[in-house]
Amino acid sequence: MLNEIAFNTLSKEALEQLSKGAFLSVKHGDQENTMTIGWGTIGVIWGKPIFVVAVRYSRYTYDLMEQTNDFTVSFPLNGQLKKELGLCGKTSGRDQDKFKEYDITAVPGKNVESPMIEECDLHYECKVVYKQAMEPATLDQGIKDKSYSNKDYHIMYYGEIVGCYKK
Ligand SMILES: Cc1cc2nc3c(=O)[nH]c(=O)nc-3n(C[C@H](O)[C@H](O)[C@H](O)COP(=O)(O)O)c2cc1C
Repeated sequence: MLNEIAFNTLSKEALEQLSKGAFLSVKHGDQENTMTIGWGTIGVIWGKPIFVVAVRYSRYTYDLMEQTNDFTVSFPLNGQLKKELGLCGKTSGRDQDKFKEYDITAVPGKNVESPMIEECDLHYECKVVYKQAMEPATLDQGIKDKSYSNKDYHIMYYGEIVGCYKK
C-alpha cells in the first residue's frame, strides 16, 4: 500500500540512496521505460517542490522525455534492487523492454502518465515545468573535462513534485 507523504519527509533518505541509484521512469503512448540515475536534486523553486533530474542526450529516456511532460523517480530504501539498478543503468530501452527482462514492475502513476516501480519504497511523481539544455560555454572547466569529454551533455528537467508516496 502507498501512503502519500510530504515531498520533504524522506528527502535525506532519498538523496543518500540517489548516489547509489534510483529509477527514473517515463512513458509516452504505449512506450514506457526506466533508467538508473545517480544525479538529481530535491528542493523548492518558484514556490513549488521541485525534483531536478539530469538526462544525457544519448539516452532512450531523453527521447521519451522530449515527447511527454512528466516522469517519476522511485527509490529502494533498504538496499534491495542493486542488481536491477545496475542492469537498468547499462542497458537501453531502445534494445529491450526492461520491465519484461528484469525483476521490476511498472505500476500506473496516480497523478502522472509515467509509471512507478512497484518494488521500490519511495516514489516521486513529477510534472515537467521547465527544462534546460546545458550551456557548455558557462560550465566549469574541471567538470567539463571530467564528465563531458564526449560532449554528451545533460538536459536538466525540472519536475514539480505532484505526488510523493511511501510504501
Ligand atoms: C549508478 C548509475 C547512475 C546513473 N546516473 C545517470 C544520470 O543521472 N543521468 C543519465 O543520463 N544517465 C545516468 N546513468 C546511465 C543510464 O542509466 C544508462 O545509460 C542507461 O542505460 C540509459 O537507459 P535508456 O537508454 O533506456 O534511457 C547512470 C547509470 C548508473 C549505473
